[in-house]
Amino acid sequence: MIRQDALLRSVADDIILVAGGAEMLDSVRDMWSKLTRDAARHSTHFRDYFHEKSWDERRSELMNKASRGHFNIDVATFGGRELGFCISTVMDGAGEVESLFVEECSRGRRVGELLLQRSVEWMRDNGARTMAVFTVYGNDDVLGFYARQGFRPISIMLVHE
Ligand SMILES: CC(C)(COP(=O)(O)OP(=O)(O)OC[C@H]1O[C@@H](n2cnc3c(N)ncnc32)[C@H](O)[C@@H]1OP(=O)(O)O)[C@@H](O)C(=O)NCCC(=O)NCCS
Repeated sequence: MIRQDALLRSVADDIILVAGGAEMLDSVRDMWSKLTRDAARHSTHFRDYFHEKSWDERRSELMNKASRGHFNIDVATFGGRELGFCISTVMDGAGEVESLFVEECSRGRRVGELLLQRSVEWMRDNGARTMAVFTVYGNDDVLGFYARQGFRPISIMLVHE
């Protein structure tokens, strides 16, 4: 469900970004599941971790962040059809792109770029002094996409199996 004051912005090529807060979370559940399957497919060492990650778990992590800081969801739509989404947060000046996904059939048409640019703008407007995104180790291709928008790798987190 989209809240009453959800921001509707016609941005380019008749793509409309629908923006809102945590109340929009359930509307991106299906796309989030596809994103997680994609993460499992790319992950070099933690395929099972992503396969087993549940929406309820992720939802409660995000609800928790929403209650402690700034929280935004953008859904890109075209003619009422959902093309992709981006979730962004800012906590204590630290901005984070939490999730970014574009439906496979809509990729390569700058929807991802549009969502990421809007996320950066929103994080800045909400006091972000740093902006970061975590990507799955093994999904090297996506690094080029992020580099074009000014995001470069700084460290690799190692997790004990
Ligand atoms: C990554 C993703 C969001 C990009 O969305 P998109 O709408 O296809 O990207 P755009 O069309 O805006 O791409 C802009 C540019 O980045 C390039 N690009 C996009 N995705 C890329 C990828 N995975 N690898 C390399 N380059 C990529 C495009 O080729 C394009 O460059 P060009 O102008 O030279 O052709 C989308 O591919 C996706 O949802 N992937 C699966 C989930 C994922 O990896 N999410 C990020 C997790 S952190």
